Amino acid sequence: MNQNRRDFLKGTAWMGVAAAAAGCISEKNTLGFGDGGSMHGFHVAPMKLIRVGVIGVGARGIGAVQRISQIPGCRVTAISDINAAMLDRAQKWLKENGKPAAREWSRNGDEDAWKGLCDSDIVDVVYSVTPRSLHCPINVYAMAHGKHVLQEVPGAFSLDECWETVEAAEKYRRHCMMLENCTYGEAEMLAFNLIHKGKLGEIIQAEVEYTHDQRVLQYNPKDGRFWRLKRHMEQHGNYYPTHGLVPAGRCLDINRGDRLDQIVSMETKSASFEAYARATFSRNDSVVGIDGKRFNRYEQKMTKGDINMSMIHTANGRVITLKHNVCTPMPYNRGNTYLGTHGVFTGISLDFWKPADAYQMGSPCRFAWESKPGEYLHVYFDFEKAKRLSEEYKHPFWKVAGEMAKKVGGHGGMDFVMDLRWAYCLQNGLPLDTDVYDLATYSSIVELSERSVNAGSKTLDFPDYTRGGWKTAKAFTVDEIDINKFDFGKGVIHAKDAQTT
Ligand SMILES: NC(=O)c1ccc[n+]([C@@H]2O[C@H](COP(=O)([O-])OP(=O)(O)OC[C@H]3O[C@@H](n4cnc5c(N)ncnc54)[C@H](O)[C@@H]3O)[C@@H](O)[C@H]2O)c1
Repeated sequence: MNQNRRDFLKGTAWMGVAAAAAGCISEKNTLGFGDGGSMHGFHVAPMKLIRVGVIGVGARGIGAVQRISQIPGCRVTAISDINAAMLDRAQKWLKENGKPAAREWSRNGDEDAWKGLCDSDIVDVVYSVTPRSLHCPINVYAMAHGKHVLQEVPGAFSLDECWETVEAAEKYRRHCMMLENCTYGEAEMLAFNLIHKGKLGEIIQAEVEYTHDQRVLQYNPKDGRFWRLKRHMEQHGNYYPTHGLVPAGRCLDINRGDRLDQIVSMETKSASFEAYARATFSRNDSVVGIDGKRFNRYEQKMTKGDINMSMIHTANGRVITLKHNVCTPMPYNRGNTYLGTHGVFTGISLDFWKPADAYQMGSPCRFAWESKPGEYLHVYFDFEKAKRLSEEYKHPFWKVAGEMAKKVGGHGGMDFVMDLRWAYCLQNGLPLDTDVYDLATYSSIVELSERSVNAGSKTLDFPDYTRGGWKTAKAFTVDEIDINKFDFGKGVIHAKDAQTT
């Protein structure tokens, strides 16, 4: 897609007609902005059968095909990928597991053929698992064609793209939710439940991160011709902010009573990727990047520093610290640490640690709270107590779907919990758990952190995509999934190809 995005958007202006023709239900214009008003609380009529078109069936997209096609009332009717081998792999899995074949777009490598999937009348929901440059174009084009969009993380890549996505959702009255799977992690949902039950008191600070050693992955030519590494080579900032941050945003009711208002970002020097490259590749290494140009991995210098650290202030005076580190030899971590007026929670991301290993360290999630005000908490609750309380306060989604989700797979089951939940909401006419304003708010970190670093760690303001709506929007609640509404019949299939890294 070489088209300039502004030109692309101009070319789609007429398409609202398609959204109207697709029978979208427009909420009342309660706040008087955008074309159709606020998307807070937006919901559509219950959808009995959800026909899903998956764009991008690569490393992560194949897992999406496997999970979605196992949810009763959902069908993968269409797939698009410019890599024919990826299409073949997805069709093979569908066939071997007794699912109908999906209609294909892009088999001939046409970079724009995904638009045909968005135009088609066999798709209700576009599920996008593509390289990040395609996220905003897909959001806007699909909504303009009457489709709801479930978009991988980050949901957009610049402030302009965030606004374009927000305006498209308001104009075409379509859902546009970011597929932030970690929000549905077992530890994250336990923290959310404990916080909502008031166990930690008022949350003052959250410490979250994305620490994931991707040195082998990012230098591998099979990783979409280095689309991840290219970003690291060329720009500063946190280009993958959502895995720790969106769960924190739900715990702090961001965009629903509080909002992110300021950010300051700082970076270490760059050393670890280069050290890895010099130890791994030959001096005359030569590979083709995503732009078609050759580069030498041994010599390549990175622009982004090893660790980007941002401090984010909220309108209600809380602070979130956010770290991005994908190149040092560190065990995987999302931080998940919440400090409140009555206690503390810090949780290992259970999808990467086997519970047995995590328990060896004391407890998978460490937490403690005061039994009376002023109690001196010098240790976390002991292993037995933490284990008992983790069961007692397990989030309702994990209580009803945890076992099944672990069987299907996808980051220890959280991917399946996420997919089950949006499907449940759409099938029952409920608002989705997060909306287009959340997508835009968290995706803004990509540009804001880069700009802050470039300006010598200057403090920058966040746009308020809700335009004041955050002050009155209903706070997040601990919701339920009535699992009996799904007919799982013979049960679920372990999706052995589903991505686990
Ligand atoms: N939520 C998570 O845990 C998680 C984990 C990994 C990646 N991701 C996100 O998922 C997305 C995909 O990542 P991945 O690791 O699967 O990458 P990938 O490169 O393996 O897959 C992307 C697929 O998109 C296809 N594609 C590229 N251009 C296309 C076009 N014009 N039309 C149709 N298909 C096209 C590629 O051929 C490839 O198969 C990214 O946005 C990434 O940020 C999320």
